[in-house]
Amino acid sequence: MQVLVDTGRMQAAFAAHIGVMMTARRSESPRVLILGAAGQVGVELQRSFAGFGSVVAVDREAFDLADPNETRALIRREKPDVILNAAAYTAVDRAESEPEVAMAINGHAPRTLAEEAQRANALLVHYSTDYVFDGTKREPWLETDKPNPLSTYGTSKLAGERAIQGVGGRYLIFRTSWVYGPHGRNFLQTMLRLAGERDRISIVDDQIGSPTTSNELARATRTIVEGVLSEKYGSMHEWAGLYHMTCSDAVTWFGFAQAIFARAPSNLNVQLPELISIKTEEFPTAARRPLYSVLSNQKLFDRFGVRLANWQKALDQVFSALNSAP
Ligand SMILES: NC(=O)c1ccc[n+]([C@@H]2O[C@H](COP(=O)([O-])OP(=O)(O)OC[C@H]3O[C@@H](n4cnc5c(N)ncnc54)[C@H](OP(=O)(O)O)[C@@H]3O)[C@@H](O)[C@H]2O)c1
Repeated sequence: MQVLVDTGRMQAAFAAHIGVMMTARRSESPRVLILGAAGQVGVELQRSFAGFGSVVAVDREAFDLADPNETRALIRREKPDVILNAAAYTAVDRAESEPEVAMAINGHAPRTLAEEAQRANALLVHYSTDYVFDGTKREPWLETDKPNPLSTYGTSKLAGERAIQGVGGRYLIFRTSWVYGPHGRNFLQTMLRLAGERDRISIVDDQIGSPTTSNELARATRTIVEGVLSEKYGSMHEWAGLYHMTCSDAVTWFGFAQAIFARAPSNLNVQLPELISIKTEEFPTAARRPLYSVLSNQKLFDRFGVRLANWQKALDQVFSALNSAP
């Protein structure tokens, strides 16, 4: 189903959540196709790209990314100038028992997207993960560091990166980490829910990373896409490639939980649970996760002049959004 509406935020989010395609066209303006419209990043991309040309946002109800024929048909029908792929198999632990599904969506589908983007001379923006690294470094990972994923999810996302790089062309891969925001399944929402259910919560205190908000990712993506389309960054050979894109500074999951609960009572009237610091080995999960997955954002800044907020400031912004939600 395809419905014609304007690019207002409410309509965008609503259309995404009921799984329909949302179209608003202006002649001679870029056509933007957002995949994964109901996901955390997909919803924020719709907000950020509202008013930027004509936006079509689709989710699983409208097409199955694991099906190359459906994916090709969608792109050939929509003829986008920009494809923003925020769709992915993101259930890190479940991927261990569904490796074929994870690989089809995260590993193989990006090749189809890259091929179709090349065919349409479109810009493909794709997101990847810090979980391509094994966590053995103790300083921020660079784009030139060798990936060594510990999990099926990380392996499938790395395969997706390589598939896009293999096709080449007008692509941007943004590796990000610990994504959360005011909506969707994420650590912040889990903490707020558990606070209502438990007096004590045990949190891993030896995995270090950079919590990154979906709205900071979407904001930075729009700035860069606008710059690419206006040729601010020069020719494709100057900007196409893989970049790390996270909020700055780092913290453990335990420290992140402390920061959430330091803000939650005044903002959301949530009761403070007791937080207990534990080690990864005390909280066994199906998938192994890197102990240190902080990414260096220097390449992103050097190339595009774009920096995301530090994670504390970004967390404040999310609480403001939660506070102002109806
Ligand atoms: N979340 C994180 O912590 C994190 C960290 C690093 C990198 N990333 C990357 O950032 C990107 C965005 O992640 P996110 O947090 O926004 O993920 P998300 O909230 O899980 O959203 C992913 C979206 O993709 C959709 N999707 C899944 N399989 C699909 C299929 N076969 N066909 C069509 N749509 C499908 C999902 O639909 P359903 O809900 O119906 O499954 C969901 O709406 C992904 O590339 C992810 O790998 C995320």
